[in-house]
This record gives sequence, C-alpha cells and structure tokens, in this order.
Amino acid sequence: MKPIIAANWKMNLTQTEAINLLNDLSSVIEPYDFDIILCPSACYLNVCKEYKSSAVLGAQNISEFDEGAYTGEISAKMVSSCGASTVLLGHSERRHVFNESNEMIKEKLKLCFKYQLKPILCVGETIEERKNNKVFEVIKEQLAVIKQFEGDYLIAYEPVWAIGTGETATPEVAQEVHKFIRNIVGNDVPILYGGSVNAGNVSELLLQPDINGALVGGASLKISEFSEILKITSINERIPQ
Ligand code: PGA
Repeated sequence: MKPIIAANWKMNLTQTEAINLLNDLSSVIEPYDFDIILCPSACYLNVCKEYKSSAVLGAQNISEFDEGAYTGEISAKMVSSCGASTVLLGHSERRHVFNESNEMIKEKLKLCFKYQLKPILCVGETIEERKNNKVFEVIKEQLAVIKQFEGDYLIAYEPVWAIGTGETATPEVAQEVHKFIRNIVGNDVPILYGGSVNAGNVSELLLQPDINGALVGGASLKISEFSEILKITSINERIPQ
C-alpha cells in the first residue's frame, strides 16, 4: 500500500496565508506519487481547488444533516461541490470540544457515502482511558460505527493525549493499536497515525507494518517541516518492509 500523508490545517490561516502556503506547497507536492490530502478550512476549499495540484482535498467536518434550515452548518453536498473528495470525521477536537457522539458520527458517515465522499474516521483514547486500560474497548466502540457501512474509508488513529501536545506515541505503542485496528478493518483499509507527527518522528512511525501514513496537524502549517515529512515518506517508501 502506498503511504498517505494528510494535512489538517484546523482553524488556522487567513485566506492570504492559505494562498501563500498553497504557493509554497505547489512545488513541494508535485514530485511525489503517493497520496497527499489537504484538509483546509471549508472556506478555502475553492481556493485550494483552483491550485489544481495533485493533492486530494478533504473537509475537516460536515453537518449531520443533509440540507435545510441549519444556520452555520456546512453540508456534505456543499464540501463536495467545492472540491472535497474526502472528509475527516470524529476528530477528537470534534468529539471533545463539540460533544460529537458516535451516533452523530454515524449520521455524518451516511451522508459521506450518499455523496461519494471518502471518510477518514478518527479514533483514539484519552489519557485517562489509557491509564484505565480502556484503549482497545474505546477504539472498538468508535470503529463499530463504520463497520455498519459498505463503502471505502480510511482510519486515523490519533491518541488524544498526543494531539498538539508535542508528545507522540512511540512507534511501538502506535503499532500495537494499529494492529488491533487492522484486525477489525482488514488489510485494504489505510490506517494513518496522527498526534504531534513531525519530520523527526515520521520515519520510525511509517516503518511500522500497520501504519500506512500520517495525519499531520501543526507541522503541516510549516512548509519546511511539511516538505521534510514528504521527503522522508518518499525515502521510507523505497525501504523494503
Ligand atoms: P497535531 O494534530 O499534529 O498538531 O498533533 C494532529 C491532528 O489533530 O490531526
């Protein structure tokens, strides 16, 4: 399986800053033949689409409702019409800051499959759940939602305690959970790792047998760091597993 590097810009960048980053990215993305997914704010999907780079565009979220009187919401159909072909769902910031439940995520998954958007379902445990030996129980419950659907999808394992904290799971800790996820989702589903991925740790992570790529937050906003991550990914790809 070819590696996949996804960039989650979160709620960062003004439009001018986004355009500057896209200009810088256009030269660093092109040499690679593995998938690079850009997840900008929904406001910038159209701007990103104009760049016609080889990167796949993803939304960071969609509404659980199809359409209608839901002020402020952004629908699956809308992000699709603005160029997104994939969507991050169930990111821990959505689950914990906005109280998204597995039930809501199930509604969003339905809409993804209805509008041919490939979901990237994010799963991961909090530090308390890890300390209480609940990791596998929590992940299994989060994955149960997607197992009810037929279409293609990706998984991103993002331990909550590693997101934006600078604390990455060791490659061994990450691999242990990825293997557990692999046994549930099978060999054809790409499983990305996310949580403080940077140029210094991406190589070791990607060398793990069940880690197929990375979901990069903070480091995807810094062009030098992100281009280094892409370079390392391409070198790793040539190392026989
Ligand atoms: P981070 O974010 O790389 O800044 O930890 C990853 C994510 O939340 O997707």
